[in-house]
Amino acid sequence: MNGKTSIALTVAMTWAVGSLGAEERWVTLDNEPLGSPEKPLVLRTYFPDPGLGREVLANHDLSYRARKYSPGKGDVDGFDDPIRGIPAAIGVNFGAGFSYCWDTTECRLLFAWQGGFLKMENYWGNPESGRRKPFAYLPELDGPLIYLARGPHPLVILDDFVESHAPAFSGYRLVDEVPEFIYRLGKATIRVRIVPGEKPMTFLKQYVVEGAKEVAYRETGYRDQIEKETPLTFSVTVTGRLESESSSGELEPEYLTDKPNLEWGKALYTQLGCLACHSTDGTRGHGPTFAGTFGSERKITGVEDPVLADEAYLIESIKNPAAKVVESFPPGYMPPYPIPDDQVQSLVLFLQTLKNE
Ligand code: HEC
Repeated sequence: MNGKTSIALTVAMTWAVGSLGAEERWVTLDNEPLGSPEKPLVLRTYFPDPGLGREVLANHDLSYRARKYSPGKGDVDGFDDPIRGIPAAIGVNFGAGFSYCWDTTECRLLFAWQGGFLKMENYWGNPESGRRKPFAYLPELDGPLIYLARGPHPLVILDDFVESHAPAFSGYRLVDEVPEFIYRLGKATIRVRIVPGEKPMTFLKQYVVEGAKEVAYRETGYRDQIEKETPLTFSVTVTGRLESESSSGELEPEYLTDKPNLEWGKALYTQLGCLACHSTDGTRGHGPTFAGTFGSERKITGVEDPVLADEAYLIESIKNPAAKVVESFPPGYMPPYPIPDDQVQSLVLFLQTLKNE
């Protein structure tokens, strides 16, 4: 394809600043001087999450709050929240006009912005004191968002039921100095390069798909224009826009927001592993079935009168299962779930739909 192709697999922090000629060049905490369309900067780093939905981050595990820990005292009061970031992403900067974040777990473009690249002080430390922000060491985007991924992965392979496969990242290489990402989806191998477009706020995704017969592409919430060279070699021009000015509400299905909703509850039932102990069809497992629980009277160990399983009861059972132990089940078997309220509410909405057959 190209004589000057160099392979750069998933090693931490790869800068594409080599071979700059005699002129010496330093990359600073603010990533200056910036890259250019001919010679972009490439950086593997932790990234902030500027508001991606669960559907975009479908293959990321949820993380939990953890007990605060002191090396001297062990567990102490309080919790540490998980870092709200994207751990295995690759940032690319083509100059002031276009930077983007590509995620190696979802194998997709997560967001793009313009202005500068990344402010690394939180992560690399203050230049004078060397101090980092404890537990919040995410770089900051140095400019406004012009694209934020929404909905499921835009590229779907139609000739195999590969939607159920998680994408597997193979690595990236530099083709004419620009990263080309390579990943697998079932039997298909996909190579994609993302470059700035001719008009401001536009960019191109150049795809080459191998090992598949038919693909479909759809970008949720943005205008896209597809030019096909062959059915499997094509280029998509996406027109971005300033995210702060857009009315995102209409584009987001309810499931993608952080508001409690039934779809989310259904997903959490699987993702948080409730299904390992609770059935939805009436069968007894390690824990009671969820079928018909809501609104029924529960017999609680050590309590004379039955207790009504209303909303408050369900919430308490999730956050603090030891408070009321269902008769004939062992105490201390269900772990407490210190999850955010919107997730608890979503689970409760889901449980409320499960009636006795
Ligand atoms: C390791 C097994 C296990 C897992 C995982 C588990 N539970 Fe439980 N759960 C139990 C057991 C055992 C009980 C009954 C004893 C008790 O009440 O503590 C129970 C009780 C409950 C009850 C009260 C049920 C009733 O019949 O009154 C609710 C509600 C509940 N769990 C919700 C959840 C949710 C939601 C999740 C996932 C976020 C979950 N559980 C994960 C074992 C589990």
